Order: sequence, then structure tokens, then C-alpha cells
Amino acid sequence: METLWGKPVAEEVYLQLEEESARFIESTDHVPHLAVILVGSDPASFSYVSMKEKACDRLGFDHATYRFDESVSEERLLSLLSKLNDDPLVDGILVQLPLPGHLDTTTILDSISPQKDVDGFHPVNVGNLLLGNPSPVPCTPLGILKMLEHYGIETAGKHVVVVGRSDIVGKPIAALLFQKGRDATVTICHSKTQNLRDITSLADILVVAIGKPRFITSGYVKEGAVVIDVGINRIEDPDRIRGYRLVGDVDYDDVAPKTSAITPVPGGVGVMTVAMLMNNTLQAARMRRDEAEILA
Ligand code: GUN
Repeated sequence: METLWGKPVAEEVYLQLEEESARFIESTDHVPHLAVILVGSDPASFSYVSMKEKACDRLGFDHATYRFDESVSEERLLSLLSKLNDDPLVDGILVQLPLPGHLDTTTILDSISPQKDVDGFHPVNVGNLLLGNPSPVPCTPLGILKMLEHYGIETAGKHVVVVGRSDIVGKPIAALLFQKGRDATVTICHSKTQNLRDITSLADILVVAIGKPRFITSGYVKEGAVVIDVGINRIEDPDRIRGYRLVGDVDYDDVAPKTSAITPVPGGVGVMTVAMLMNNTLQAARMRRDEAEILA
């Protein structure tokens, strides 16, 4: 059984991005700029945003975080997004999810310019992804692809079972893996799937993104399967100073011995997400410069 650590893969991505962004800044005299919008005080969101800021600092990207109280109005956010869309210095815009219930997530995400949508959540980008056209790829699925590539895990002809149908992970990873070039056979399961175990047990590659701590046990997994655990769940742990620890959607200790390879939590897929956001930010900056040159 091989443990698929995210850190060495993310490091490889950062080293490449350091080189590429230095070259980009040198040749365009423009520094990639990421704008992040954070609403409310969810501790996990705070921690993710802080990781994104540090990653920008490492690569020398400009960044600004716009923090709002839980009670902020939709109008206020839409007005900021409109300003950021029009700001020529801003390359990427990210609204940290989840948003408080009174805000309509779809309205807000749809108002980000598709060219600046570094999360790849805008319907135009989602449509292009499904069609197999070039488009920004959501960061977590892109991180999974990078890991599969890095560890030499072949997807062509393999049966991939995705558990979870979220817009952020389940839908895009399924759409990416069945595209020409990756050529997997993909089954998507969700909370209403009957006989889930029978289906997950067929998977050569099992991708789990359901947000239920240690839900997948060895009975769900075929001998020798590759397991990609996308879950990051906080569970209470009085032995830890912070009072909690992180576990995945997969019961690692139970499942790992049965697999040929498995991602740990923490230290697996989660490590990749911010690196891929940096990739998407540089990519957005490049596309906008190229377009500016074409228009000039
Ligand atoms: N919240 C959890 N994952 C994500 C993500 O990939 N992007 C954004 N914007 N928010 C998230």
C-alpha cells in the first residue's frame, strides 16, 4: 500500500509556478493579483483564506482580502464584485464558500467575470469544462488530477466511482475523468444512491467527497483499489490543545490495508488545493495579458 502524500506534489507545482510567475512578471511588468472575499467568521474559512494569502506571498503575487460581517447584504457584495470585475489590476476573484444562508450563492458566483473566475465555478466555465474546452478547472479536482499524474496512476479504461455530487468536487472531477485523454468510465453516487457498497466495491479508483467523517470503511472498497479521500472533517479530540483533529470521509486505518494506494487526511488532496488556486491565478493573469495584447 502506497500513501499518496500531497506535499511533494504541491512543492513541485510551487517550484514551477515560482519560475513561471517570475518570467511572467519580468516580461509583462504586471504582478498577478488575487482578490478574496470572506464573509462571516467560520473558522475553517478563516484558515483556508490565510493559507491562500501565504501562498500568494510565497509567489510574490499581489492579494487583497475583503472581509465582511455575517450580515452583509447581497447588494454590497455584488457592488464590490462589479468593481473587481472592472479593475484592470485584478486577475482573479474568489468568494470563499460557504456563504451565510441569506445570501444567494448562485447569484454571487454568477456575477464574477468568467475570465477572473479562478475557482472555475461560473456557469460558462462549468459548461466549457463539461464540453472539454479550455477553462479554469476547480482547484480541488485539479489537485486530484495532478496527484494521479504525479504518482503515475492510469485512468484510461478504469472504473472511477465518485461518491458525492457537489459543484466543487463531485461533478467537476467526474466530468474531467471521462474526457478524451483521461478516458475513465465514471459512476457518480450520492446520498440517495441505493446499494452504495455494491457500487463503490466495483471501483478501481474511488473518489470520496461527501463531508461525512470516516464514512467509507473497508466493506466499501475493492481489494487493490486506489482511494482518493477529499473529505476534511473536524472531529472533537480532547487530547489535542485545539480540541479537535482532522479526519477524512474514509476510515483510513480500516481501509488503507486493502488498497494499492490511498491519500491521507490531513496531508493528501487538501494540500494541493491552494497550489492549484495559485496556478489558476497565474493562468488568469496570462490569459488577460494575452487578450490585452490581441486587443491592442
Ligand atoms: N470552500 C471550500 N472549498 C472551496 C473552494 O474550492 N473554493 C471556494 N471559493 N470556497 C471553498
